Amino acid sequence: MPDETRFEYGSQEYYQNPYPTLKRIQEKRKPVWHEPTGTWLISTYEDVSCILKDASISKQFIRENPSPLERTMLFQDPPNHTRLRSLVSQVFTPRAITEMEKQILDASSSLLARFSERRSMDFIADFTLPLPIQVIAEMLGVPREDWAPVHGHSLTLIKAADGQHSPEESGQLLAQGMMGLIGCFSALIDTRRANPKDDLLSRLIAVHDNDGGLDTDELVGTAILLMIAGHETTVNLLGNGLYLLMQNPESMKLLKDHPELIPGAIEEMLRCESPVQQGTYRRATETIRISGVEIPAGSQITVLFGAANRDPAVFPNPEVFDVRRTPNKHLAFGTGIHFCLGAPLARAEARIAFEMILNRMPGVQLSGSPSTLPRQGLLAKLLGMLRPPDQMGGRCLVHWTANPVVRSLDSLQVEW
Ligand code: HEM
Repeated sequence: MPDETRFEYGSQEYYQNPYPTLKRIQEKRKPVWHEPTGTWLISTYEDVSCILKDASISKQFIRENPSPLERTMLFQDPPNHTRLRSLVSQVFTPRAITEMEKQILDASSSLLARFSERRSMDFIADFTLPLPIQVIAEMLGVPREDWAPVHGHSLTLIKAADGQHSPEESGQLLAQGMMGLIGCFSALIDTRRANPKDDLLSRLIAVHDNDGGLDTDELVGTAILLMIAGHETTVNLLGNGLYLLMQNPESMKLLKDHPELIPGAIEEMLRCESPVQQGTYRRATETIRISGVEIPAGSQITVLFGAANRDPAVFPNPEVFDVRRTPNKHLAFGTGIHFCLGAPLARAEARIAFEMILNRMPGVQLSGSPSTLPRQGLLAKLLGMLRPPDQMGGRCLVHWTANPVVRSLDSLQVEW
């Protein structure tokens, strides 16, 4: 009989500060059945690592007509996962990412330049939302005139998952965003098939192994996967990272004086406020035993990166943001065969962005008022303000999105 425990997991209070709840779940040191979502929650570092490396755990949806996204590597098991990942890895290489560094630098620079006189901005809307999408759009070879529609469809997908809509509305937004992206990428793939260029999409079309290459659905799905897997995740790394630095001014000063510490600080940002808090869909294909608990075949399993990355058994003083933390083997990019393919790109974007931010936004700090909470409904605002997580003179300055999968700030008003 599963250990059904009704945590307040999923409440508005949880979203503003999930860590006390995650700690309570983790203190059981075993998988916990969560009745409201019908899934086993896996929270210790060891159990999460085990599940992510267990070949009997499937990521494949059982559906008759899977969408192009469901046909991508993220939702496939070997041998199809191995085929897709190795084809895409042939062209989405560390070298291709290094070649993007100049574009990342230029895009970051021009986004920041617009605010150099005003010396204030909403760091989320004005910097973190546009940067990763521009980078991946440019890398894929999306023509500039298509950036606005592609960005719009991606934002619709993000909106679908922001926890602010009913299941019906979310379903509609998801379908709308997905259809939009499928339309854009199908057309672009046709164009590039006829007229290849020196971009990632043309290389994905050309790539093949002994068994052939990617079919059209797989190409469309892969382009969409790279677009969305690399968007909100990186948005959250940048937003949560700057927020952590502003909460820890001594660390900000240390990094300004010693920029060589920035890569380590980025790993600590990933650990401390993990952009992806939960793994994607997983299911046990056979009955397994983990930390003394039997998980029956067919059960859904959710790994909690946000908990594992603060497991005191692995990270001493896990709640402390320590930019010099070593070792720091966090699981923010997952582990095992589905380890994030875009980790080198996310790390490069964050390193370039933070080097620039520390130079061009000296003394950056939180600003704004409770009214600056654009993505929240009134009820969410009121609930958030009952227990404001970060206050200045009694005012709530930041508000986290009500979404259990990502750790995401609605906005981040800053001045310098
Ligand atoms: C800070 C930024 C990012 C974070 C925290 C992140 C996190 C993750 C995590 C946790 C997974 C594994 C999910 C699971 O096993 O359930 C994953 C997979 C993946 N990520 Fe990322 N990601 C980031 C950025 C990116 C970027 C920039 C790209 C590409 C443009 C990308 C592409 C992918 C792909 C393709 C997979 C699937 C790999 C597979 O199934 O084999 N990610 N990511």
